[in-house]
Amino acid sequence: MGIHDTTHDARALMLDAPVTYERADVHRVRDVLAKFPAQCRAAAELRPVPTPTFPRPRLVVVAGMGGSASSGDLLAGCAAERLDVPVIVHRGYGLPTLAGGRDLVIATSYSGDTAESLSAAEAALSRGCPLVAITSGGRLAALARERGVPRVTLPVGLMPRMALGYLFFPLLGILKSTDLHVSKGGEVEEAFEVIDALAGELGTARPTATNEAKRLAQGIGNHPPVVYGGPVTGTTAYRWKTDFEENSKTFAAAGVLPEMNHNEIEAWSGPLARELYLVLLRDREEGPEITRRFALLRELIGPSAAGVAEVSTRGGGYLARLLSLAYLGQWTSYYLAIVRGVDPWSVPVLDALKGRMRTDR
Ligand code: F6R
Repeated sequence: MGIHDTTHDARALMLDAPVTYERADVHRVRDVLAKFPAQCRAAAELRPVPTPTFPRPRLVVVAGMGGSASSGDLLAGCAAERLDVPVIVHRGYGLPTLAGGRDLVIATSYSGDTAESLSAAEAALSRGCPLVAITSGGRLAALARERGVPRVTLPVGLMPRMALGYLFFPLLGILKSTDLHVSKGGEVEEAFEVIDALAGELGTARPTATNEAKRLAQGIGNHPPVVYGGPVTGTTAYRWKTDFEENSKTFAAAGVLPEMNHNEIEAWSGPLARELYLVLLRDREEGPEITRRFALLRELIGPSAAGVAEVSTRGGGYLARLLSLAYLGQWTSYYLAIVRGVDPWSVPVLDALKGRMRTDR
């Protein structure tokens, strides 16, 4: 027993006291997260208007940034095993050189005012690519209106990263309309059920002793988290990293097995390792080679870290598995914000940079 344990206990007490949230979460992010299952269900009903009539594409490009791009990662993860058409997530200005008239471009920006996503939409129009926009408004909505681009209209009032359900589920319908079937019968319903169950397990009313997200945040504390996934969970590791950065305002790193076994693993022999908290994202279908690699990773670098935690996907289909893990990451980064005494909602530096990009010329 020592200072460390006392801090743990103090964090658990704090996370289990309703007054903590009244004080530390004035924007009520906890309500947004608790309503995530309802968000996903509502999102699955959203369709582009006017209805697109595009042929089956050669390639799908999801163009967006930050929280909006992350829905593309989720799509690519679910599509990888199922589609014979590649799904590329493009984060940046313009479009990849190979994107042309036979490819479907989906420009996704929650606010509709992200310069890079607008530039991608403009590039798609000038190259004659079939284009669909997903946005709550802004300049992307205006562009869609002016140019007759099919648009999925999202409700306003959320932070983009907290609109993951809204940004993701319409992608399934858009691809389906071009004869690309990412989810099989029953998989969407399974994902909803898994998310429903998790909402009950991870909310603020569930005590730390039985709440996986609170326990993780309690363990991570002031240590920068380093999140590693396998082939299926790798992109979700990146989503965890960005949620830690934006919600908890901490440095975080993410990597993927097996690649990190060939480079990043060596960094754990340095002195900084003692400060880092290792989080491993496991999946029951990761395969025996990856299972062995995770075991060896724990053995070789686990003792160097400040702490180690493992979490697993839930459910059978890719949709349920990846969404459940992303949802756990959202709650974990939320509680980490509370533990660290920072506002999980606002992103003032990010906003300042966007503002300066618009005004400084
Ligand atoms: C902020 C957030 C960011 C944004 C990004 C792009 O909550 O999640 O990562 O998603 O700055 O903005 P949008 O999504 O509006 O295009």
